[in-house]
Amino acid sequence: MKVVTIVGARPQFVKAAAVSRVLKSHTSIEEIILHTGQHYDDSMSEVFFREMEIPKPFINLEIKSTLHGEMTAQMLTGIEKVLIDQRPDAVMVYGDTNSTLAGALAAAKLQIKLIHVEAGLRSFNMAMPEEINRILTDRISNLLCCPTEQAVINLTNEGFGNLNLNVIKTGDVMQDAAIYYSQKSAENSTILKQLALERFVLCTLHRQENTNDKLRLRNIVQAINEINAVIPVVLPLHPRTKKILAADSLLPHCTIIDPVGYFDMIELIKNSSVVMTDSGGLQKEAYFFSKYCITLREETEWIELIDNGVNYLVGADKRKIVDTALKYLDQKLLTSIDLYGKGQASENIADAILKYI
Ligand code: UD1
Repeated sequence: MKVVTIVGARPQFVKAAAVSRVLKSHTSIEEIILHTGQHYDDSMSEVFFREMEIPKPFINLEIKSTLHGEMTAQMLTGIEKVLIDQRPDAVMVYGDTNSTLAGALAAAKLQIKLIHVEAGLRSFNMAMPEEINRILTDRISNLLCCPTEQAVINLTNEGFGNLNLNVIKTGDVMQDAAIYYSQKSAENSTILKQLALERFVLCTLHRQENTNDKLRLRNIVQAINEINAVIPVVLPLHPRTKKILAADSLLPHCTIIDPVGYFDMIELIKNSSVVMTDSGGLQKEAYFFSKYCITLREETEWIELIDNGVNYLVGADKRKIVDTALKYLDQKLLTSIDLYGKGQASENIADAILKYI
């Protein structure tokens, strides 16, 4: 069975690393990887392939990001050509980026079976490009691999039970990656030595809803500055956020570093006092490594983290951000409930592919 996996943006490399490693052990599945080129800096793309030993993409379409419609259209055109040429039995897409939607559309139009890893997540905020991407991708997928119980419930509520599709709960492949690479990252990462900080808050910021809203961005920057006066804030800065902050002379007074690879990120999380982020993936990674997470958004797809009191939605409210972050400094998570599977998600996905495709 031939599967074309489509990736393009940073979080997809992490997820693909976990799944590809397992697919390799199934001789009846041949997987080849198409990279759309959505992320292209070494620190946003190549480093993940190197460190995590992800199979080299057989093609990179080199479609660097531009307007959402244009980017998605260019990807669709490029992916369709490749799929016509390769004629795979299935296409696999991850998450909710423009690369996900383009891959999904290309496959569905060619009537190639579509596997969506991380299906069923919802923020219920249609202003997010990711929410549009994930809803549309789910609807045209054949095999929907849900990371959580809530994701299955979301699909059921949308009537997926009435469709002739396979919806299964697999667990979260990011948990697989965290377990598998934790030891390797400890052995290989040098970030802690480079930073030489005894205690720090880890922060990331890249969501369009924050970066493209001046008021929200200003509030978050002020909050970072205030926290940094108490404890150093380490901010691996996404290139887009950096451009916007620099243009407005808004760069926060904290430890700003270039985006980091997976190993460095894992070590930063493990050694942080608390995590602050607007990323989806980092919210879970904080939990995997027993850290509280302060989420700089109004809602989250990972609602079970909120329900279990390990993640706090503070939006872009300066006071709430500062007070919550300082409250949870150095607090160890007391819960270790199995919310995301025990590192078996990739195996479950491979089994489902063999069963349903
Ligand atoms: C994309 C995903 C988002 C995901 C994020 C992970 C969509 C709609 N969004 O957002 O869901 O959480 O990836 O990082 O697909 N840039 C560079 N170098 C790079 C990549 C980006 O300089 O290697 C800059 C460019 O200025 C680009 C901007 O970042 O215009 C935004 O990149 P883009 O891929 O459009 O969106 P992300 O914000 O990264």
